[in-house]
Amino acid sequence: MTDTLLDWINLLVRWTHVIAGIAWIGSSFYFIALDAGLTPNARLDPRVKGEAWQVHGGGFYHIQKYMVAPEFMPAHLTWFKWEAYGTWIFGFALLCLTYFLNPSIYLIDPAVLDIPTWDAVPLAIASLVLGWFAYDRLCRSWFGQDTIRLALSGFVLLLVTMYAYTHVFSGRGAFIMTGALVGTIMAANVLMIIIPGQRKVVASLLRGEVPDPIHGIVAKQRSVHNNYLTLPVVFTMLSNHYAFTYASARWSWLILACIFIASFLVRHWFNTMHAGEKPDWRLWPAAAVPVAVAVAFSVLGQKSSAIANASAAPIAFAAVQPILQERCVTCHSARPRFGGFVEAPKGVMFDTPAQIQKQAQQIMQQAVKTHAMPLGNITRITEEERATLGGWISQGARL
Ligand code: HEC
Repeated sequence: MTDTLLDWINLLVRWTHVIAGIAWIGSSFYFIALDAGLTPNARLDPRVKGEAWQVHGGGFYHIQKYMVAPEFMPAHLTWFKWEAYGTWIFGFALLCLTYFLNPSIYLIDPAVLDIPTWDAVPLAIASLVLGWFAYDRLCRSWFGQDTIRLALSGFVLLLVTMYAYTHVFSGRGAFIMTGALVGTIMAANVLMIIIPGQRKVVASLLRGEVPDPIHGIVAKQRSVHNNYLTLPVVFTMLSNHYAFTYASARWSWLILACIFIASFLVRHWFNTMHAGEKPDWRLWPAAAVPVAVAVAFSVLGQKSSAIANASAAPIAFAAVQPILQERCVTCHSARPRFGGFVEAPKGVMFDTPAQIQKQAQQIMQQAVKTHAMPLGNITRITEEERATLGGWISQGARL
């Protein structure tokens, strides 16, 4: 009963997180494109940087952007912040419900680092706070005064963080923490920089003063960062469902690095296209290169177990079933015994020989070719047992 309830809460929180995220990313894409596409018009108020005409939903929109602000405070002003806050709040709740509630199966992998759960969760939370401060300091430092310099130094900071995450947490844990950190930075950009800056502008307007343009410049810089970070952050969230991305412990941080590079290039193509510049089509093949490298890393870095020699003595099913019984069936059963699981994860069950045989290739993928299963190796499967599973499957998985 309580487990079913927890699963429902998990689903509802995830649903809200994804919907808020769609709204946030949608407005980010929209405003960056709008900003890039503004055209100057000398007949407009000199404070207007540019205007845009758009058609949508049965009417025409005429949008003008005032830099830094109009002369008067408008009566109705729409703020864009709850999409960002909502995404973060529900995302963090989901992180707690999944990873922090069950750190030993999701966040920790003793094969990477055998940290106690009471160390892992505070460490993960602290890294989010520290990561934000490091990024924010970087933006305000000498590095932040030049876009290229900031992009390169920010990328180095990201590499160090991803390396650290993948050497402390499980593969999945490291990927989700990377996404959580980048998402935290994006939401904090809104909460700590963009919105407070806009509040100061509004306050000086209300006092009848001319607002300081610095707030607009800083807000724009951070909102551009957020825009470039959207694609990779979504990747980190989705990759959790694809063991081949994170299960290769050795190279997984480089796989992520490649994805970050590819996403920046793709995002850049869209941003320049929206700015009305001639789109540089070379960016697409350029983005394909890091993706291809990521694929190569995922194949080369696979922490595969040796497969018991297929030509050697045949491996009997009788040798295989007890392994699955002991290492997998605690979770993968019609009635899982492992606390917190109401039903077999992803519907994968190994209760009967027929079920095992039918899912032989998946067992190969999850427990032999990658070490994605058992989660966090909580049931302490051995290398020999993985090799036995692999051998039996490569011999044709006969009952
Ligand atoms: C602690 C519980 C637990 C144990 C033990 C466990 N699994 Fe899993 N398994 C899960 C969960 C949870 C998922 C769903 C993961 C997700 O949502 O991506 C899963 C998913 C799977 C999948 C489906 C993967 C996919 O993406 O379609 C396979 C196959 C699998 N496990 C095989 C195994 C094998 C083989 C073992 C034993 C060697 C094992 N599992 C041990 C919890 C467990």
